Amino acid sequence: MDLIKIKDIYSSPNYNSKIIVAGWVRAFRGNRFIELNDGSTIQNIQCVITDSNIDNKIIKKINVGSSLKIQGTLIESIGKGQSFEIEIIDIEILGESDPDKYPIQPKKHSFEFLREQAHLRIRTSTFSAVMRIRSKLAFGVHQFFNEKGFNYVHTPIITSSDAEGAGEMFQVTTLNNSQKEKKEVDYSEDFFGKKTSLTVSGQLEAETYALGLGDVYTFGPTFRAENSNTSRHASEFWMIEPEMAFYDLNDNMDLAESFLKYVLKYIMNSCKEDLKFLDERLTKEQSQKPKNERDELNLIEKINFTINNEFTRISYSDAFEILKNSNYNKKKKFNYLISEWGCDFQSEHERFLVEKHFKSPVIIYDYPSKIKAFYMRLNDDEKTVRAMDVLFPGIGEIIGGSQREERLDILQKRISEMGIDENELWWYLDLRKYGTVPHSGFGLGFERLIMFCTGMQNIRDVIPYPRTPKNASF
Ligand code: 4AD
Ligand code: MG
Repeated sequence: MDLIKIKDIYSSPNYNSKIIVAGWVRAFRGNRFIELNDGSTIQNIQCVITDSNIDNKIIKKINVGSSLKIQGTLIESIGKGQSFEIEIIDIEILGESDPDKYPIQPKKHSFEFLREQAHLRIRTSTFSAVMRIRSKLAFGVHQFFNEKGFNYVHTPIITSSDAEGAGEMFQVTTLNNSQKEKKEVDYSEDFFGKKTSLTVSGQLEAETYALGLGDVYTFGPTFRAENSNTSRHASEFWMIEPEMAFYDLNDNMDLAESFLKYVLKYIMNSCKEDLKFLDERLTKEQSQKPKNERDELNLIEKINFTINNEFTRISYSDAFEILKNSNYNKKKKFNYLISEWGCDFQSEHERFLVEKHFKSPVIIYDYPSKIKAFYMRLNDDEKTVRAMDVLFPGIGEIIGGSQREERLDILQKRISEMGIDENELWWYLDLRKYGTVPHSGFGLGFERLIMFCTGMQNIRDVIPYPRTPKNASF
């Protein structure tokens, strides 16, 4: 007899059949009722000890957190709360657990506490739901691009170029401390013979592949040494970066919008139970807040709203005017007041536009060149670039992208204005020398997407082992 997943029992219960399940005890009541979970679904299965042939010594070892293999008969349940249960024939204790020491008790734990137990938090309903959704979302991402004929490119993780030019890179070195203490470090002695870092983005390499394969995407980990301790920034996060030859900024925005809607639909269809659980969890949490602080839409409504409504598209300059003239700005409710054209929007401004003003996802395009990366295509006004940011409710920026500068002379000028060493980017400039074409792409922060889909408020709770300043445990 083979092991059966609890998920499969729920999808087609075969009454009166003999089955074997294995999992971890979530609760054990009255020395009779075991709530078992195997991670395949949010639902536990109730297993009932009815037979006195189960040895007392075994029963003593059944505790919250212990792992069991149970053989029994699936029967209709007369008890409340479940339509079937397993009448136990035999129990094998796979692993014991000390109920007084096991950190995950059958009660509500704070997320802060669970972060310290990141190796065990996956055994809670909330984290298992979030991580199953994470897994499905990744699959949905690949399916979308595969259906569209994109090629998946594995761009390098160790790199010598700073794609964003922001100097927020983690260095990769095998030089020992005495060498590093020298005033002028000789990187020719380092492992790669030059200064290298963990990548902040696969974009530049993806561009080279787009200009040969046409449509490509990368999906991998990226690393940023920015010291921002917010609920939306991680030092290691996953990014999806499509790059398309012959796309202009409008094509790019269209793709971003249809991509987001596709993956949202995908999880609405494939993660119904987990979403329902998280939706109920959030609704309960919301009901404890004062009425004026509650979200208008619950989680599932929010996802559906995003799928079914067009994103608002607005230029930076128009968004700037809206923000500048808003009551929030006039009444000084923003921490950063909007006064000069050219300022970067903070997340409070982005959220104002999305949540208060438009009440829909927003794409802002044509940003001032001064606040954007060197590779974005300069507009004819010579003040703005063909950039776009997609902003989501509760999240702020979820996607950043642009049409790329395909004109060699203008790109060289931008690179030198920004103080970047052209020699490091010789291969990137080659693309503009040999068969350059208009092209565009964007980057979606995978964790931010998961936050939106699960309603989790902190990026630390949507990635298995979060890396943030001063934290790299596990
Ligand atoms: O806007 P960013 O910096 O854009 C790029 O890296 C481009 N190279 C993308 C491209 O055009 N191919 O980052 C893209 C997205 C952001 O919109 C955000 O969702 C996410 O990556 N992101 C982060 N997510 C978590 N933690 C951080 N520290 C993040 N920084 C950016
Ligand atoms: Mg950005």
